[in-house]
Amino acid sequence: MTPQTITASSAGTWQLGDLTVNRLGFGAMRLTGSGPFDLGTPSERERALGVLRRAVELGVNHIDTAAFYFSSLRSANELINTALAPYPEDLVITTKVGPGRDSGGEWWWAEPAQLRGQVEENLRQLGRDHLDVVNLRNNRPAVEPFVERFGALAELREAGLIRHLGVSNASAEQLAAAQAVAPVVCVQNRFGIGATAEQREVLRICGEQGVAFVPFFAIAGEGREGGAGGAEDQAVLDIAAAHGASAAQVRLAWTLQQGPHVLAIPGTGNPDHLVENLAAGALRLTGEELARLDAI
Ligand SMILES: NC(=O)c1ccc[n+]([C@@H]2O[C@H](COP(=O)([O-])OP(=O)(O)OC[C@H]3O[C@@H](n4cnc5c(N)ncnc54)[C@H](OP(=O)(O)O)[C@@H]3O)[C@@H](O)[C@H]2O)c1
Repeated sequence: MTPQTITASSAGTWQLGDLTVNRLGFGAMRLTGSGPFDLGTPSERERALGVLRRAVELGVNHIDTAAFYFSSLRSANELINTALAPYPEDLVITTKVGPGRDSGGEWWWAEPAQLRGQVEENLRQLGRDHLDVVNLRNNRPAVEPFVERFGALAELREAGLIRHLGVSNASAEQLAAAQAVAPVVCVQNRFGIGATAEQREVLRICGEQGVAFVPFFAIAGEGREGGAGGAEDQAVLDIAAAHGASAAQVRLAWTLQQGPHVLAIPGTGNPDHLVENLAAGALRLTGEELARLDAI
């Protein structure tokens, strides 16, 4: 594939509420250091800023971030602000709340009353007066605590701090319960080749309802926070070779071909990977190839 000529619009667009985004977006979690939550090894600042600027030049208008994406010296939100503000009119920045990290990097989880502080932290860091999309990141199977927090976010939406709401790491039951409180424009869940029946079911429900489904770890797979780089499945390698593509591109293309409502937010701090990932939007896998990948 000749990646330089392909931009983020090659996989088409989708609506997040009244906001139109290219289906191929960008995840900011990999910008801050060698491991996403590694306080010790910050990324090279100019390189990270360059990746963000290049992404937007190549048509990315959907960036996923969080205030808790930081290393000892880099904050994803600060990098986004520095690289891209004043923001392009069409840029949609999606952030997520629920989890928090204190200044030493220790994790904590917000009670409903603490969500406003997390939203305001994102507003300050991004330099905005409202957030385009905020996902409530879930961390447990119970429905009630999740809905209680979602209700607190719905109030912040009513107050004008947030334009649209989404949910993350949510089950079908939690999604339905949230939708009874306020509209949900996207579901950001773990998904990729090898997805479980339960993961596929949430994707299917989103498709039926016209809700965006936004997978994370679509490239990293089982490598999760540790990133890509483990042994690759032979079917992925064979199909990549047949298209003159990389394994990461095949993983992204498979994900995008699961439905028009599926958006991609591949994460990278590497400018070459950025270009390669955007080019995956133009890669079309055959029915036979999709079936072979489905079987993994
Ligand atoms: N809601 C949630 O709970 C949640 C959880 C995790 C992530 N997220 C969001 O989802 C986004 C995507 O997830 P992710 O970044 O964890 O995983 P990912 O996009 O599946 O994969 C990123 C990993 O793959 C590598 N990579 C990226 N492009 C590559 C390429 N073309 N060739 C080879 N390696 C490549 C990256 O390393 P390099 O930097 O070296 O390219 C990194 O290790 C995140 O950035 C974040 O915004 C959300």
